[in-house]
Amino acid sequence: MKTILITGGAGFIGSHVVRLFVSKYPDYKIVNLDMLTYAGNLANLKDIENKPNYEFVKGDIVDSDFILKLFEVKQFDGVIHLAAESHVDRSISNPTEFVYTNVIGTVNLLNAARHIWKNTKDKRFYHISTDEVYGSLGQEGMFTEETRYDPHSPYSASKASSDHFVRAYHDTFELPVVISNCSNNYGSFQFPEKLIPLFIHNIKNNKPLPVYGKGENVRDWLWVEDHAAAIDVIFHSGRLGETYNIGGFNEWKNIDLIRVICRVMDKKLGRTEGESEKLITFVKDRAGHDLRYAIDATKLKNELGWEPSLQFEEGIEKTIGWYLENEEWLKNVTSGDYQKYYEDQYIRR
Ligand code: NAD
Ligand code: TYD
Repeated sequence: MKTILITGGAGFIGSHVVRLFVSKYPDYKIVNLDMLTYAGNLANLKDIENKPNYEFVKGDIVDSDFILKLFEVKQFDGVIHLAAESHVDRSISNPTEFVYTNVIGTVNLLNAARHIWKNTKDKRFYHISTDEVYGSLGQEGMFTEETRYDPHSPYSASKASSDHFVRAYHDTFELPVVISNCSNNYGSFQFPEKLIPLFIHNIKNNKPLPVYGKGENVRDWLWVEDHAAAIDVIFHSGRLGETYNIGGFNEWKNIDLIRVICRVMDKKLGRTEGESEKLITFVKDRAGHDLRYAIDATKLKNELGWEPSLQFEEGIEKTIGWYLENEEWLKNVTSGDYQKYYEDQYIRR
C-alpha cells in the first residue's frame, strides 16, 4: 500500500483531487494535510471522510518541525502539493502571508522530502501551480511550457518563486519532481470570493456584481474535475523534472462570462430575462490586473493523452445548479470571517 500526502485537500481543487484518489485508488492511503484556513472546509469532503484509506491531518506547512515529523512518521511515497494562499485580491492586501505559505511552506515540504527520502526510486513530489506565473498575454498567443516567467501579482510572484524552488531541488538535489501550471478552475466547492461562485452568490442575494475595470480581461476556464483528472495522469505518468500546462482551450472575456452566468441564473431562479444583469456594477480595476491568460495544453495531450472532457456551457449550468442546491454549504463557508473580509485587513500571524 502506498501512502500519498495531498496538501490543501480541504480547499477547492484539493478536495476534488482527494475525492478522486480516495475513490479510484483503494490501495493508496491518502493523507490530507490542511490547516483549514478560511478557504479550507471539511464539509467539502463529507462524502469520503469515513473511507478506510483516507486520513485528515490538521497542520500548517509553514511549521517546518511539524512537517519533518509528519514525513518521518508517515513515510510518504508521494506528495501532491496544493496547499496555498490562492486569491489575487488577498495577495494585494496582505502579500507577506503568501510568502509564508506559498514559498516557505513549499520549501519546508521539499526539505522534508529530501531528508526523509533516502532512496528516491518510485518517489514523486508533484507541485501544483498556476498559469499566472507566465504574466499577461496581449490579444494573441498562448502560454506554453517554454514561456518565460513574468509574474505581476504578489500571488503569482509567490507561486513563481515556489516553482523555481521545486525545480532547484530537482536540479541540485535530484529530488524527483514534476510541476503543472493550470488555468482558472471552476466548479463545486470553490470559496465564494473568486469570480464565478461570488457572482452566483451575489445574484442569488440581489447584491451588486463588482466587475473590475471594463470587464475586458480574459481568462481560460477549466472544469475542476478535469483538472483533478489531469493531476491524476501527471502524478502517475508525467516525466520527472518536467512541467505540464493544463488548460481548457476555453477563453472568456469577463463581461461575456458574467452575462452567461446572469442568463442561467435568471432561468434557474425564475426571474425575467435581464434582471440579474442589472446587478452588474463596474468598479475600480484591480491593481496590476493581468489582461489575458490562455494555456496551450498540447504537450499534455500529446504526451499523456489528457483533454478537457466537459464543454463550458454544460459545466457552467452544472456549477450554478450545484451552488443553488447546496445552500447549507454556502451558508457554512460564508459565516464568520467571510462577512468581515471586505472591510478587514487579512492577517493571521
Ligand atoms: P483554495 O484557496 O481553495 O485552497 C487552499 C487550501 O490550502 C485550503 O484548504 C487551505 O486551508 C489550505 N492551506 C492554506 N494555507 C495552508 C497552510 N499554511 N498549511 C496547510 N494548509 C494550508 O485553493 P485552490 O483554488 O483549491 O488552489 C489549490 C492549488 O491550485 C493552489 O496551489 C493554487 O495556486 C493552484 N491553482 C489554483 C487555480 C484556481 O483556479 N483556483 C488554478 C491553477 C492553480
Ligand atoms: P478570480 O476569480 O479572482 O481569478 P484570477 O484573478 O486568479 O484570474 O478573477 C477572475 C477574473 O475576474 C479576473 O480578471 C478578475 C475578475 N474579477 C472581477 O471582475 N470582479 C470580482 O469581484 C472578482 C473576484 C474577479
